[in-house]
Amino acid sequence: MRKVGITGVGEYLPPRVLTNADLEKMVDTSDEWITTRTGIKERRIACANEATSDLALKAAKEALADARLNPEELDLIIVATITPDMQFPSVASIVQNALRAKTAVAFDVSAACAGFIYALSIAQQFISLGTYRNALVIGAEKLSSVTDWQDRNTCVLFGDGAGACVLKEVKTGGIISTYLGCDGSNMELLNLPAGGSRLPASQVTVEARQHFLKMQGNELFKIAVRTMTEAAEKVLKQAGMDFSDVDMIIPHQANARIIMAVGKRLGLSGDKIFLNIEKYGNMSSASTATALVEAVKEGRVKKGDIVLLDSFGAGLVWGACVIEW
Ligand code: UT7
Repeated sequence: MRKVGITGVGEYLPPRVLTNADLEKMVDTSDEWITTRTGIKERRIACANEATSDLALKAAKEALADARLNPEELDLIIVATITPDMQFPSVASIVQNALRAKTAVAFDVSAACAGFIYALSIAQQFISLGTYRNALVIGAEKLSSVTDWQDRNTCVLFGDGAGACVLKEVKTGGIISTYLGCDGSNMELLNLPAGGSRLPASQVTVEARQHFLKMQGNELFKIAVRTMTEAAEKVLKQAGMDFSDVDMIIPHQANARIIMAVGKRLGLSGDKIFLNIEKYGNMSSASTATALVEAVKEGRVKKGDIVLLDSFGAGLVWGACVIEW
């Protein structure tokens, strides 16, 4: 089996910033509530004419340039998203065309906030088996398009963005282990009810606001802490490591309190926990992706470091990954 590593990273965050002060004018909330309950200060919002593929494409170009890989050489493109431009074709197909990556196979993965780790794991399998030489993995979301801006329980939490990475065979380091999980029995805790085959779009579904995401945050919170802790323990065990080996945990950014609770249970000190939730809120699959990209760009992750990715979200799904950088 070939070793597979990340050889280039990129991100795109739309320039428009929506602050907690802006939200105070839209719903009955306060900067104090949002900051203390979630750690979020602001989030990015894409333009009306910008779709998820536009965000994905910009992140992809930066990652390809960083990896010094021409799009024509790409073998595989996977986009993790729950906010595709349209029901079909996939965002990955749209990105493949925009990049003119003519020989790349392309598809989307729907695994919500764990989507980036699911996609990394799939790409790793293809490359390690020798099926493909390289892959572009993107986590991209325009969650503002499915957010109910009248619902204070959810609208303060989410934002738009994209993170991307290029995977190739490497001689040293790379992905050491991945661990994925799913529990469909709790799907009602976080979902978007209408617009699919069960409840196709109609005047009734629009009037009932069923095209916006619905979340039972309090219940999810407890499951998130427990599940992310277990996923981190399992993936490290698979890697033959323990928490003292970890230089940086890069978790899904749903809530700073969830992240700190997981860190505490794992015995990781604050300087080993990467947080960017205050700038971007929860961007589902793009959260872990951009957090990894920013940790690398800021020099918080250096060559030889052991990085632990850990995500959890709607499905319910979860995933963790150990990488030697
Ligand atoms: O990314 C996928 C995974 N997602 C998650 O894991 C999210 C997990 N959940 C969370 O992050 C938290 O549960 C939330 C941030 C969503 C909510 O925080 P909480 O501490 O669990 O609050 P809560 O839902 O228990 O609500 C507490 C109170 C309620 O008022 P009452 O019933 O106590 O009077 C809410 O109505 O806070 C109220 N509230 C708000 N108040 C001001 C809810 N949203 C707001 C708001 N501003 N935006």
